[in-house]
Amino acid sequence: MSNLLKRSCYSTEISSDLIGKELVFNGWVAGKRNLGSLVFVDLRDREGILQLVFDKELNEELYAKASKLGREYVIGVKGFLRKRDTANADLITGEVELKVTELEIFSTSAVPPIHVREDDGAKEELRLKYRYLDLRKKKNMDRLRLRAKINRVLREYLANEGFIEFETPILNKTTPEGARDYLVPSRVNPGKFYALPQSPQIFKQLLMIAGADRYYQITRCFRDEDLRADRQPEFTQLDIEMSFIDQEGVMELNEGLMKHLFKEIVGVDLPLPLRRMSYHEAMERYGSDKPDTRYGMELLPLEDVFRDSEFRVFASAVEEGKSIRGIFVPGEGVFSSKELKNLEKMAKTYGAAGLATVILEEEPKGSIAKFLGEKEIAALRSLAGGEKGTFFIVSDEKKAVLTVLGNLRGSIARQKELYDPKQFDLIWIVDFPAFHFDEEAQRYVAEHHPFTMPKEEDLAYLEIDPLRIKADCYDLVINGFETASGSIRIHDSKLQAKIFDVLGFTKESANQRFGFFIDALKYGTPPHGGIAYGIDRLTMIFSETENIRDVIAFPKSLQATCLMSDAPSYADDKQLEELHIRVIKNED
Ligand code: AMO
Repeated sequence: MSNLLKRSCYSTEISSDLIGKELVFNGWVAGKRNLGSLVFVDLRDREGILQLVFDKELNEELYAKASKLGREYVIGVKGFLRKRDTANADLITGEVELKVTELEIFSTSAVPPIHVREDDGAKEELRLKYRYLDLRKKKNMDRLRLRAKINRVLREYLANEGFIEFETPILNKTTPEGARDYLVPSRVNPGKFYALPQSPQIFKQLLMIAGADRYYQITRCFRDEDLRADRQPEFTQLDIEMSFIDQEGVMELNEGLMKHLFKEIVGVDLPLPLRRMSYHEAMERYGSDKPDTRYGMELLPLEDVFRDSEFRVFASAVEEGKSIRGIFVPGEGVFSSKELKNLEKMAKTYGAAGLATVILEEEPKGSIAKFLGEKEIAALRSLAGGEKGTFFIVSDEKKAVLTVLGNLRGSIARQKELYDPKQFDLIWIVDFPAFHFDEEAQRYVAEHHPFTMPKEEDLAYLEIDPLRIKADCYDLVINGFETASGSIRIHDSKLQAKIFDVLGFTKESANQRFGFFIDALKYGTPPHGGIAYGIDRLTMIFSETENIRDVIAFPKSLQATCLMSDAPSYADDKQLEELHIRVIKNED
């Protein structure tokens, strides 16, 4: 690159005292307009856009060269900064332009398959296929810069609090976070596989045993699980662990961390301590262990309303001990019939047999209104506080009802924008059950992970009724997203072995998978606990997007593929042979 055309500054660093000065800019051609004897070029650099002017009367050769510039050509220009005749209020640099005296074309560009501007209208698949072009859009690059700032602020705070950053292995054995592992075959150990870490959980605990006292790491984790809008197969955690600490201590440290982060990133002063809600209350009131409490629409128990109803479906559901609950959305004519149909469809995908509606207007309407007597309508009106609006009602086993209504509540709030997207709602969810019973596997499964400490007062139930046990476990929920999750750990090897027993591991299988860790616990383990944040989710919250792919430079699709490189791909025969792997090809 010639010395002459080395950048003086970024486009947005121009100030009025540079007017009249000779400056150099580098960047991409974002657009070009020929107007008689003038060519105007929008030069895009990382920070913004600057208008360039090429004047035929000044330099015919330069004008001809500029006329041939194509979109996304990479250029260097030298010229004099001057005030524009008519300012462009949409641009930071809209008051000025560069009268160009030299032009160097560093690269030409093929016609780009997507237009590099916010309103390009391109489908996400195409954007991801050409992600390097998509990232030329300022909004997209800004999200990644925000992510970098979040990481920096978190690192600074933790370093100041005496935390040491460690790196832990990527190639190792399984970590039990509940998802499937990504396996990597070992060439030098035929038939053996490494598992990519679902989290650094075991290693951060080993670091506590090693005496590290305060650990953190910003690291990639890998989970082979069904993907959703807020899940990726590889994602990033801020992982934290502390020794000689209890639940209150971990929460206090993290409240300080969040206060600092929110102040630095969005200038918001979080009031501390953060609110807390038990898992039980969150499920009962919001049908979710990650409730968004920026809006109401709480779940209302309706068994009493329908106990003796003429509407036999619900009356007999009460008799059978089933649960009937509803949510009430106030307002007249809020839902079109198409929307109601779609909500019913959605409820069914969450497992509901159906979704009953009662629309409270002068004359009650809705799918079950005609089956209801005056008494039920009056009871519903009273629950609605006399307001007009729509009841969505589900009847089933309690767990199913809570799940369906919890999800429905979130979808309705998003569709109808029932909250202020600029508001931040942080809440700790505590007192989780330690275990649940997995019907399919016919065994107990740890709600958080097997290293989580049961509440001391519940330990007596370990052998007789594990489902009664609560855990020293906490989730930080922000705007309805589980943003961080952690627990106090078991630091006694006998208790840890017992937990594996409750979880249905034989002594052999526990030893084979985690023997080294159970062993390590025997050599002087401090009481310890920690937490891990999803960095992707944190960034989503600050950049007001509900699509995790927006905050990752090169994300995977919902099918866990990279649309750009086409990963994963087939391995060639030689590679497979070296890895001692034979692939059974499916006829399809
Ligand atoms: P957990 O499994 O809850 O806990 O994960 C911690 C946080 O990581 C984020 N997260 C994800 N983000 C994007 N895509 C995914 N597939 C994904 N899975 C999880 C979430 C979540 O809250 N070892 C424990 C932490 C601990 O106990 O200290 C753990 O990994 O934001």
